[in-house]
Amino acid sequence: MKRKRVPIYTGFERFWHWTQAILILFLAFTGFEIHGSYTFFGFEEAVRYHSVAAYLLLALIVFAIFWHFTTGEWQQYVPTLKNIRAQLDYYLFGIFRNAPHPTRKSVLSKLNPLQRITYFSLKVFLIPLAVVSGLLYMFYRYPTRYGIEAINIGSLKFIALAHTVGAFLLVAFVILHVYMTTTGETVFSNLRAMITGYEESEEPATLSSMEGQQA
Ligand code: HEM
Repeated sequence: MKRKRVPIYTGFERFWHWTQAILILFLAFTGFEIHGSYTFFGFEEAVRYHSVAAYLLLALIVFAIFWHFTTGEWQQYVPTLKNIRAQLDYYLFGIFRNAPHPTRKSVLSKLNPLQRITYFSLKVFLIPLAVVSGLLYMFYRYPTRYGIEAINIGSLKFIALAHTVGAFLLVAFVILHVYMTTTGETVFSNLRAMITGYEESEEPATLSSMEGQQA
């Protein structure tokens, strides 16, 4: 069968994906130093780098939200139960028997039902948990001058706990995510698609093959 190059990811999407990945890994690395897990930069430098990376992540999130809504790409992340059984069966059993992928990627529908649920939860619960708790960590007494108490949270305990839980869950997500990227047509085909924007495919994505993935 003829191989075809199918466009999947736009330039902005790839830029956003890799920048977010680098920032989250760097935030985890500096964050766990602040947490006391090891010493690398030294506490004060780690705090400074963590804050700079946090502001960069916030700026990236603003651009990503704008992109999702202006392009309509947000619709790709609406969770669906359609085909979820087939997708679960594939990851639990089919994958070990060399079964074909139950869903096919296209630029109009690039996420399978399990990815939709996972990325939806990531965007709506997990990243906001890390970001909001991180901002509260920074500004739990704000402003600190003139005796104004716009934000004055008595104890950092719950904020620190929420932020650390968010950080552990994000690290768990990254580990699972990296494993899942190897489950494409070949071990590196998904990774290559996120770098080049194109996926190599045996046959063109037809409307019927995409049907199962639409919300
Ligand atoms: C916009 C996003 C974020 C902001 C504003 C933020 C902010 C902060 C602040 C202010 C601290 C405390 C620093 C200090 O003690 O002076 C902190 C600690 C920490 N951050 Fe973040 N952070 C963000 C994202 C992340 C991410 C994505 C991760 C990990 C994947 C992470 C992991 C950690 C960890 C593990 C700690 C130590 C928590 C503790 O032991 O209490 N942070 N962060």
